[in-house]
Amino acid sequence: MEHATIAQPAGDTAPARIYIYKRYERFWHWSQALLIITMLISGFEVHGSYALLGFEPAVRLHTLAAWLLLILWAFTIFWQFTTGEWRQYLPTHKRVMAMATYYSWGMFRGEPNPFHKTVQKKHNPLQRLAYLGLLAMISPLIWGSGLLYLFRAFWPSLGIDQWLTLAWVAWAHTAGAFLMLSFFIVHVYLTTTGHTPTAHIKSMVTGWEELHDDDTHSADTPSATPQG
Ligand code: HEM
Repeated sequence: MEHATIAQPAGDTAPARIYIYKRYERFWHWSQALLIITMLISGFEVHGSYALLGFEPAVRLHTLAAWLLLILWAFTIFWQFTTGEWRQYLPTHKRVMAMATYYSWGMFRGEPNPFHKTVQKKHNPLQRLAYLGLLAMISPLIWGSGLLYLFRAFWPSLGIDQWLTLAWVAWAHTAGAFLMLSFFIVHVYLTTTGHTPTAHIKSMVTGWEELHDDDTHSADTPSATPQG
């Protein structure tokens, strides 16, 4: 178990750190990233955008990654609810504009980030909205159409072929894939906007986020002791 939340390493020059991403969270994040990249690469090959593995192997890899992602999500939903971490995704309208202004303008003028991470609030208001969009729009579109695609052999017995065509499902799934690709590109770009281009990525690897001068008030915020 990892208990410390805020640590001041020996020596005056080293910055204080805050333990923000728990072990399971990091495992979940990176496994999901790997599976989604696999689904993007194999999916666009199935779509016919390029030839890399061959059509049949791409279909098999795509289907395998979908099942693995489903299992990962089942465990992750359980983890989110048992730890109460799901609250991190509740949207807020407060300071959304401040974040949007920072990302489109202030960040390039060296202004401080208006949001300060704490253990209880890891995601800034704009991030919360983006993750909600991913959960409420992109995921249902891609999963709904993906499952319909996967089980198309059962359509006649369920009467689904009376009102749905494969062309519609393929269109919806491809639209979901493009939305997922857009989310992925913006997400990766935003990870580079920390104190250094790799600071956010490092904290998702180690769990620890370094605090800098403009963050110091977050160290004053009382924080729950994270478990594992
Ligand atoms: C990040 C997530 C995903 C991306 C980017 C993605 C992307 C794609 C793309 C671009 C295609 C080709 C569509 C076409 O041209 O008709 C495809 C096909 C397919 N996808 Fe996905 N997909 C994702 C998730 C899923 C999930 C979660 C499932 C299942 C639950 C799934 C099942 C399928 C199936 C069955 C096909 C058709 C393969 C075939 O032709 O037999 N996909 N996917």
